[in-house]
Amino acid sequence: VTAEKAGFDHFMLKEVYDQPKAYRDTMGARIDASGTKVLLPEVGMTREQIADIRNVHIIACGTAFHAGLVGKSVIETLVRIPVEADVASEYRYRSPIITPQTLVIVVSQSGETADTLAALREAKRNGARVLAITNVVGSSIAREADDVIVTWAGPEIAVASTKAYTSQLIAFFLLGLYLAQTLEKVEAGYVKEVLAAMQELPKQVEQVLAQADSIREVAEQIAKHHNLFFIGRGLDFATALEGSLKLKEISYIHSEAYAAGELKHGTLALIEDGIPVIALATQEVLFEKTVSNIKEVKARGAQVYGIHMEGNDELSKVVDETFAIPQTHQLLAPALSVIPLQLLSYYASLALGHDVDKPRNLAKSVTVE
Ligand code: AGP
Repeated sequence: VTAEKAGFDHFMLKEVYDQPKAYRDTMGARIDASGTKVLLPEVGMTREQIADIRNVHIIACGTAFHAGLVGKSVIETLVRIPVEADVASEYRYRSPIITPQTLVIVVSQSGETADTLAALREAKRNGARVLAITNVVGSSIAREADDVIVTWAGPEIAVASTKAYTSQLIAFFLLGLYLAQTLEKVEAGYVKEVLAAMQELPKQVEQVLAQADSIREVAEQIAKHHNLFFIGRGLDFATALEGSLKLKEISYIHSEAYAAGELKHGTLALIEDGIPVIALATQEVLFEKTVSNIKEVKARGAQVYGIHMEGNDELSKVVDETFAIPQTHQLLAPALSVIPLQLLSYYASLALGHDVDKPRNLAKSVTVE
């Protein structure tokens, strides 16, 4: 077993460190040699079929759903098609409006999650085309979907999903660009720029991982608390949700992720002296707004840890501690900003002496509804 962990103490930590390779492998031959085009032969739709799509539904559970939230933003921004993202267990029972012009995207690491599989079947019954993003070739979801984008993250053993999640983000970036390029919704120069930024990501993940010691220190502080908040806007809110789930799952510390602008609609009442707040502020256009929400929690005594993009040091003036991720394209930021949050939950779980790889009450793959 130690050998499988490649010298790491836990599968989760190994899988966190596998991410640069997982990004490279998932991008792989899907970016053409000139770096100007996305190649996705596994998406078997013709240009006409793609042009015929009226709406997109993204369906998944847990962490895969959080990847779906990023996917929604990416597709809406790049392709300008309406996208809804739902957790699979809700989707099936809310009588969703599915037509043959709906593209349904199911996201699942294992490809065996019962609710996601049932939603896929429901979508197909209604005549929709189903595209799966999965990590397991030959899984039930891969077999039943019309098109399959495989995330080449390699086997994920730890219950807490890390490299599968970030590989799903890469798959969504590629898919969004592919649809946009096919429908000529974006300039060729823009595609090239995003692809160049994507190719920098593996190296940038390594730069984040190199700062694990400073994240460990924060994790050890956080492990002393029973409650905390993650806040962010836009794509940072999706990352906040994922950071909060990861922390709950393996450290058993209660946390909530909040859209930063929603705080004053109730949640601010819970902010008291010393409560840790992890504030994500990687999105340039939302930066000032997030800063004003951070000031709201600071004024009520919160201990704020801010995550921002390098080169923007403004945050250090308002928060207690900052962590910088390398500069990247705005849309791609979640693929970097989640890394410190993965390490944060890992080290918090470790500090509390929990079973990191096998948290209580949870299974790696949920095959019952
Ligand atoms: C992630 O850390 C969780 N263990 C869980 O939310 C998981 O993402 C969810 O059960 C979906 O699994 P799947 O991707 O295999 O469908």
